Amino acid sequence: MRKMLVAANWKMHGSKAHIHEFVDGLRLAEDVDVVVFPPSVFVQELVQCAPAGLLSGIQDIGIQPQGAHTGEVAAEMVAEVGGTWSIVGHSERRIMQAETDDLVATKASAAFRGGLRPIVCVGETLSEREAGHELAVVERQLAAVLDRVDVNDLAEGAIGYEPVWAIGTGKTATPAQAQEMHAFIRAQIAAESPRAADAIRIVYGGSVKPDNAAELFSEADIDGGLVGGASLKADEFSAIVSAADAVGKG
Ligand code: PGA
Repeated sequence: MRKMLVAANWKMHGSKAHIHEFVDGLRLAEDVDVVVFPPSVFVQELVQCAPAGLLSGIQDIGIQPQGAHTGEVAAEMVAEVGGTWSIVGHSERRIMQAETDDLVATKASAAFRGGLRPIVCVGETLSEREAGHELAVVERQLAAVLDRVDVNDLAEGAIGYEPVWAIGTGKTATPAQAQEMHAFIRAQIAAESPRAADAIRIVYGGSVKPDNAAELFSEADIDGGLVGGASLKADEFSAIVSAADAVGKG
């Protein structure tokens, strides 16, 4: 079975003091992979004070290993300071930084090249869902990644299904809506490799909270969560980790 994965996307929040306070209050679970994504400048601080079993990574990466790319950070550099994961294709970057499907796919590939595992985010906007296009949008986003990344490599990373209308809004997809999309994503991966489809973690993101985590994580194809707002406080985030542990697919 797949080990549950619960990730904290701190976005542009946090400080050194916050990292120490968070780590002191965090409760891990042996059967859950827990990854925290602080702002890039704090990854090293987190790595240095993380208890055994707490993983860390970066919220976005550049596509080159090095060079004249002002402001970018390479996956290789994150790996050098002990980071092991990268988010790529978060909807805030797709929307605010105009990241295309192709760029996101290139970033997923760059993550593997540099020794990081990507959580590749996909998800439709509210208007796309209202128009009935949610499956087509996610299919297109995922197809771009499968074009550039070997499906068996991809299985070492994860997919984050994050409906844009559920992010930071307090509106969570129902467990049934999320499960439908997760099963759809897994079927697309299975069409290339049933083994990869069986292995890859597909996590849900969008207003995951301690009080809705258990029912989301109980769905067959939901292998954990990518948590924004509720990941900033150690006690709330720990409760979500514990909900994943209780489901115990690991
Ligand atoms: P949220 O954010 O939990 O605050 O909705 C999730 C995300 O953007 O990854």
